[in-house]
Parts: sequence; structure tokens; C-alpha cells
Amino acid sequence: MKYTAIVLAAGKGSRMNSEVQKQYMTLGGKPLIAYSLEAFEKSAVDEVIFVTGAGEEEYCRKEIIDRYGYKKVAQIIPGGKERYHSVFEGLKAAAGSDYVLIHDGARPFVTEEIIARTMRTVREKEACIVGMPVKDTIKISDCENKVLDTPQREHVWMVQTPQAFSYGLIYHAYEKILAQPDCGITDDAMAVEKMCNVPVSLIEGSYRNIKITTPEDLVTAEAFLRQQALN
Ligand code: CTP
Ligand code: MG
Repeated sequence: MKYTAIVLAAGKGSRMNSEVQKQYMTLGGKPLIAYSLEAFEKSAVDEVIFVTGAGEEEYCRKEIIDRYGYKKVAQIIPGGKERYHSVFEGLKAAAGSDYVLIHDGARPFVTEEIIARTMRTVREKEACIVGMPVKDTIKISDCENKVLDTPQREHVWMVQTPQAFSYGLIYHAYEKILAQPDCGITDDAMAVEKMCNVPVSLIEGSYRNIKITTPEDLVTAEAFLRQQALN
């Protein structure tokens, strides 16, 4: 069985408001993107497809892949305008895989353990995503910020990546949803939820598996790294 990880790093990082794109920012002495590549390198996945901004391929090869010696990175390919375009480029490049694990390169704290759990589950369930139960109460609002509903907290999860699928399932789900005029999906499971009759299983990620999105996330990330250094 061939497992391929698609690591996404083709975003602009606009919410970070920094000169250096967030995936290349230095975190604990290394580029932020190196952390997830390292976790997949150490995991049991067979191959990694690294999706980067058009024109950034050579920089990534030299400064990240070769520099840190990631042997599992089989292809470095350009992404697209929206995250889902980048994912679809990754899926096309992953042809021949049995399973794919799609991961936000902006989540440096993914672990080998989370990856192993995802690989085990996808083999059994075909579609699984990591996440954690929410800690706050969540409200659903209308367009004027009036509360419409309060879902029962024990049934509300914040979802993370990796999100893993059997290859044919996710490829066809994406193909179908991208053919629609307003695709609007914000994670990969949504493509399966909307287009296929296959349930998506939630499995435990970690409260540390945060996505670096805004400047305060970097403060949290530095704190996690300081604590890891003490252990
Ligand atoms: N991503 C991608 N291609 C895109 C957009 C996003 O590969 N066109 C990737 C990002 O590089 C990131 C992940 O998808 O690893 C999650 O996206 P997000 O956190 O939204 O990152 P950005 O889109 O870069 O940030 P922003 O939305 O603030 O511009
Ligand atoms: Mg984005």
C-alpha cells in the first residue's frame, strides 16, 4: 500500500502580516515549514509531495529539502490560487497512491504519532481527519451576528490536518466539487461530505497541532518549543 503525504505551502500568509511568508519564517532556528516535513520524513509514509508557490520551487529545493536532507520529498510542485486548487495539484501529482494524507505546512506540531494514527485509521475507514473537541462554547450566527443556534459542545470539534483518504475517493470528490462554480470548501473532508456518500471519521489530533495563522500563534509556537526543549 502506498501512502503519500501532500504538504501544502503555497499560501500567501496574508493574516500573518509579515514581510517573510509565514512558511519560511524562522521558528526555533529553522524554517517553519521544515517541522512538518521532518515529521513526515520520520513517519511511515512512502512519499511526500511538497506544494509551494509558483516560482518558489528552486528556493525550496535548495534551502529546505536539500539543506535538511528530506529524502521522502519526491516532487516539489506549484500550487494554485486557493487552498483547494493547491490540494488538487497535489492529488494529480500523487497518482498511483493508495492513500493520501493532506497536511497544512503551517501546522509545525504534527507528530509521528498523529501521522501513524491517521495512517492506521484511513486504511480501515477510507476517510479520516484529525481534530480535537472544542473548549469554548460555539455559536452559529446569522449575517447580522445574531445567534441562531448553540450546538451541543460535546459534538463540536475543531478540525486540523492531516486529513487522509483513499486516493480514488478524494480525487473524485475534488474533481466533482471543483467543477461547481462556487466551490468554497475550507478543508478536504468537505469535498467528501458534499460529493460522496462515505462517512468521514474524526480522530484525535492534539491541542498543540495549531495552525500558524496570525502573529500571536508564533508566540504560542515559541512557548511549545521552549517546553519541548526542557523535556
Ligand atoms: N495553502 C496552499 N495554497 C493556497 C492557500 C493555502 O497551499 N492557495 C496552504 C498554506 O500554505 C497553509 C495551508 O494551506 O499551509 C493552510 O492555509 P492558511 O493557514 O489559510 O495559509 P495562507 O493561505 O497562507 O494564509 P492566509 O489565509 O492568512 O493568507
Ligand atoms: Mg488561506
